[in-house]
Amino acid sequence: MSRKYPFIPPLIILLLACFSGTAWYLYGSHQPNLFVPKVRATEQPVKMKQCCECHEKVCQQFAGAPHLRTLRKANDPDVIDKFAGRKITLKENGRTYHFYKDHDELWVSCDSYPNPVRIDWFFGSGLHAITPVSLFPNEAGKSELLQHIVSWYPSGKLGITLGLQELAHSKSGIQALGEVSSHANTLNCFGCHTSYLGNVPGEIQTSQMIAGVSCVRCHLNGAEHIRAAERGEKDLKLVKWNQLSPLESINRCGECHRRSDQLEPDEIHPDSELLIRFAPVGLSQSPCFLKQGDLKLPADKSSRFDCTTCHNPHQQASRDPEVYRRVCLNCHSDLKGHAPVCSKESMESQCLQCHMPPVEVHDNLSFTDHWIRIRERDRQRFPEFQLKQQK
Ligand code: HEC
Ligand code: HEC
Ligand code: HEC
Ligand code: HEC
Ligand code: HEC
Ligand code: HEC
Ligand code: HEC
Repeated sequence: MSRKYPFIPPLIILLLACFSGTAWYLYGSHQPNLFVPKVRATEQPVKMKQCCECHEKVCQQFAGAPHLRTLRKANDPDVIDKFAGRKITLKENGRTYHFYKDHDELWVSCDSYPNPVRIDWFFGSGLHAITPVSLFPNEAGKSELLQHIVSWYPSGKLGITLGLQELAHSKSGIQALGEVSSHANTLNCFGCHTSYLGNVPGEIQTSQMIAGVSCVRCHLNGAEHIRAAERGEKDLKLVKWNQLSPLESINRCGECHRRSDQLEPDEIHPDSELLIRFAPVGLSQSPCFLKQGDLKLPADKSSRFDCTTCHNPHQQASRDPEVYRRVCLNCHSDLKGHAPVCSKESMESQCLQCHMPPVEVHDNLSFTDHWIRIRERDRQRFPEFQLKQQK
């Protein structure tokens, strides 16, 4: 996975990322993911139900987690009514889409495509967006996915799917409805949004699938762990997350959230919108992450810094800026051995606003810039890039 876009010079990448919002920008790589074989292994992994027999508390937390709900069948009662019975004319292409229910199935018709199309899956928990997709066999009989051009956003509105804005200009057939992905790319989409895909080559197997990012997708060796726990063994056969180095740890999350080693060094600069969506890439550049080893904090504080310092992956991320400010203050203080305090604002102020702000990527969506830094110094530090005007 080291060299990604060998033929695309950085300037074009920049242009693409900034102006077109292509699916490439959204999903980064078109190359197969290394972990696709894992979600297609012969042996079906342990189901969540089994983990929950012994880990009731975590399971209760996890029941509403965006990770678990990031892929759902199109007849899911929690989602179907967000679309059914609604009509929208996209301002981007002037076409009208009508979603309707027929025998518990969701269909969409478009005034410039001859047939209605059945929706099979919903991608996205709805915290940021829900995108409907349909599956078709291609000429070789392998599943390919149509990602629909209309998505649902938390404001309750339907609107153009992030990343498909460019399709609005296309005149040809199916592109009125959305973008078709190759079989390999279809596996990638499901690979990041499922825990198991079944191992029938060419197919996305609904009957075997474990939809959503569930326990075994992050905690490997589930079956061995259960055997060991049942026998009361000392070694519970789990890799503990906090035994990984901070970089390994964020890279494990980065299997899906994207890793910095998937980008070329010259793609990593403050003006790249890729980074805004790819939290581990931004975090890996932050002085707070890079210099965590330099701190000498008292014994009751930890200087370890990775995704789990701020997020519990079993739950929705906190929306309370105060929670995050407390994380900053763990390391940043006047006390000896700590990282410096802010020379600009009081330590009571809202750190995120200036050092880790949300950035809008679409009418209906923003992501948090995980590259913690003094943004006012970007021009000085990256003179080789034409950085956009900063406030
Ligand atoms: C038969 C009971 C049992 C089952 C089933 C079980 N576990 Fe555990 N698990 C334990 C025990 C006992 C511990 C150690 C005490 C604790 O941390 O709760 C543990 C600990 C853990 C830990 C914490 C390790 C650490 O960092 O300290 C994780 C993670 C975990 N289990 C995940 C899972 C997952 C995922 C599944 C399903 C694949 C699962 N467990 C199924 C009994 C079980
Ligand atoms: C198998 C792929 C995968 C892995 C591994 C993974 N994630 Fe995610 N993560 C996702 C997907 C997909 C979503 C989008 C959920 C949705 O639809 O809202 C997500 C969403 C999130 C969110 C946003 C939740 C919110 O409230 O907005 C956070 C935070 C997050 N992940 C943190 C982590 C952390 C931390 C790790 C590592 C411990 C991790 N993820 C590992 C796929 C993954
Ligand atoms: C490399 C792993 C990966 C691949 C491949 C991938 N996703 Fe995701 N997807 C994520 C992660 C991580 C998130 C949560 C963070 C984010 O939004 O980037 C996410 C979020 C989403 C969301 C929720 C809205 C949002 O923006 O947070 C939708 C919808 C979605 N993906 C659809 C798709 C579709 C459709 C495909 C294939 C065309 C796809 N994804 C391919 C990892 C992936
Ligand atoms: C997106 C990745 C991800 C998913 C999905 C996930 N976990 Fe975890 N889990 C983690 C990480 C990372 C930690 C370590 C947290 C820390 O270091 O603070 C953890 C910690 C744990 C622990 C020990 C600490 C605790 O909170 O008790 C248990 C037990 C556990 N997970 C069980 C489960 C079970 C059961 C499921 C499914 C219902 C699950 N996990 C799903 C990433 C995940
Ligand atoms: C210093 C704290 C901090 C760390 C460390 C951190 N995040 Fe976040 N993260 C945030 C904040 C703040 C938000 C925005 C929460 C809100 O919406 O109010 C956020 C939001 C997110 C979201 C939701 C989409 C978005 O961008 O707003 C995802 C996905 C995410 N983080 C993934 C990760 C991953 C993966 C890691 C590890 C590489 C990580 N985060 C490390 C603070 C952190
Ligand atoms: C695990 C400890 C730790 C945490 C948590 C942490 N930082 Fe840092 N931070 C550091 C260290 C270490 C440095 C480097 C200080 C130095 O260069 O001497 C640093 C540097 C910085 C800088 C200077 C960046 C630059 O461009 O030079 C800023 C700004 C900053 N942190 C803000 C924050 C904010 C805001 C938060 C909370 C969202 C936070 N930090 C959380 C340890 C941490
Ligand atoms: C209104 C915007 C703003 C807020 C809010 C803010 N900072 Fe800053 N911070 C800055 C600017 C600008 C600088 C650079 C000052 C300079 O030019 O030296 C800075 C510098 C820093 C530095 C580098 C040390 C230094 O002063 O040179 C750290 C560390 C830091 N801030 C941490 C924080 C933390 C932690 C918080 C929350 C308690 C916070 N900042 C809140 C704007 C802000």
